[in-house]
Amino acid sequence: MTRRRIAILGSTGSIGQNTLKVVRHCRPAFEVKALTAYNNIALLEKDIREFRPEIVAVAKAHLPALRSRWKTVRFMDVDEDLDALVGRRDVDIVVLAMTGSAALGPFLAAVRAGKTVAPANKEALVMAGEIIMEEARRCGSRIIPVDSEQSAIFQCLEGQRREDLKRVILTASGGPLKDIPVKKHHTISVEDVLKHPRWCMGAKITVDSATLMNKGFEVIEAQRLFGLSVHEVDVVVHPQAIIHSMVEFCDGSVLAQMGVADMCVPIQYALTYPRRHKGARESLDLTTARICTFEKPDMVKFPSLKLAYMVAGKGGTLPAVLNAADEVAVEAFLKGQIKFTTMFKIVEKTVLAHRNGSAKNIKEILAADGWARIKAREALRKAA
Ligand SMILES: NC(=O)c1ccc[n+]([C@@H]2O[C@H](COP(=O)([O-])OP(=O)(O)OC[C@H]3O[C@@H](n4cnc5c(N)ncnc54)[C@H](OP(=O)(O)O)[C@@H]3O)[C@@H](O)[C@H]2O)c1
Repeated sequence: MTRRRIAILGSTGSIGQNTLKVVRHCRPAFEVKALTAYNNIALLEKDIREFRPEIVAVAKAHLPALRSRWKTVRFMDVDEDLDALVGRRDVDIVVLAMTGSAALGPFLAAVRAGKTVAPANKEALVMAGEIIMEEARRCGSRIIPVDSEQSAIFQCLEGQRREDLKRVILTASGGPLKDIPVKKHHTISVEDVLKHPRWCMGAKITVDSATLMNKGFEVIEAQRLFGLSVHEVDVVVHPQAIIHSMVEFCDGSVLAQMGVADMCVPIQYALTYPRRHKGARESLDLTTARICTFEKPDMVKFPSLKLAYMVAGKGGTLPAVLNAADEVAVEAFLKGQIKFTTMFKIVEKTVLAHRNGSAKNIKEILAADGWARIKAREALRKAA
C-alpha cells in the first residue's frame, strides 16, 4: 500500500485519538499531514511533537502562542480555514472526527475536492446527507464510514448487489439508562449519563446514546449513506455490543459484522480500505462472550428514537432541525441548565413547530438549522 497522507479533523477528541492510535499501530502506512483541534492545546502539542504534521488548525485565540512555539508548522484558523485545508493536493484521506454541525463545511469541501472521506461525524450526514452523497458521486469522492454501525453495514454490503438488499438492522447497546425505569429519568444527572457501559466517547454522543437520539441519527445516517427508505432501516437493542449491525438480503440471509467494541477497528478499516491491516487487539472470544441477546427498542421510554424515525420518514429540512435542536438541548443539559427529560421536550417542540421544506441546497439547510437554534433556545429559556 502506498503511504497515505491523512488530515484528522478533531484530533484531540475520542475518535481523533483513536485514529492516531491506528496510525501509530500501522506505521509507516500513513503520514499525518494535518491535525485540527479546538481548545485542547496541551494534547494537540503532544501530538504535534509525535506526529510532526505540516499543518495544524485551532481556534483563533490560540494561534499567536502556538506560532511562537512551533516555527516549522503552518497554523490555520479552525473556524475559517478547514475548507482550504481538506482540499490540499497533498491530502489523500480526510478523517472527520470533529463533533457537531461545524463538520458540514469541511465535509462538503473534501467531497468536492474528490478526497476519500472517513466520517465519524454524523451531524453533517443527518443535516445534508443527500447533498453530500450526490456531490460525492459527481466529484468521484469515496466515503467510507467510521461510525461502527455504518462501517458494519458497509462491510456487509461489500460485493453485494444493491437490489438484493432487503433491510439493514442497526444494533444499539441500549446505553446507560436501559434498565432505569422511565419514572426515574427526570432525576438522572450528567454523571449518570456519561457512564456508558460499552463505549468511551465524547460527551455529546454519550448523552445522545443515553436518550437513543444517537440511534435515531444513525437511522438517518444509514438512509443517506446507503440510499435507503425509512422502512429499510430497523433498530434492535443488543447490549453486549458484539454485533455492530446486520444486513438482510431478499433471500432471507442475514450478514452480521462482529468484533470487539473498539473504535480503532472501523477507523483502521476506513483508512486501509479496500485492504485490511493486522489489528492491534486480540480476537473476539465468542466463548467468553457466550450470551447475545436482542430486543425491540422501547420507544415509550426513549421517545427520541420515535421522533427521529418520524423525521427520517419525512426528510426535507426536518433532519437539520432535529440535529440543531438536539445540539442546543444537549449543550444545556451538559451545563446543568436543564433536566435530562427536558432535552426531549425542547427537541420535540422545535421539530413539531417546523414547517418542513425542501432541502435541495445548503442554503435551505442552513436556514432551517438557524431557525431551529432560535426556536430551541426560546424553548430552553422557558424550560430552564
Ligand atoms: N466517540 C465515538 O466513539 C464515536 C462513535 C461514532 C461516531 N462518533 C461521532 O464522531 C464525532 C466526534 O465524536 P467524539 O466522541 O470523538 O467527540 P469529542 O471527543 O467531543 O471530540 C470532538 C473533537 O472536535 C473538536 N471540536 C469541537 N468543536 C469544534 C468546532 N466547532 N470546530 C472544529 N473542531 C471542533 C474538539 O476539539 P477540542 O477538544 O480541542 O476542543 C475535538 O477534537 C461526533 O460527531 C460523534 O457523533 C463518535
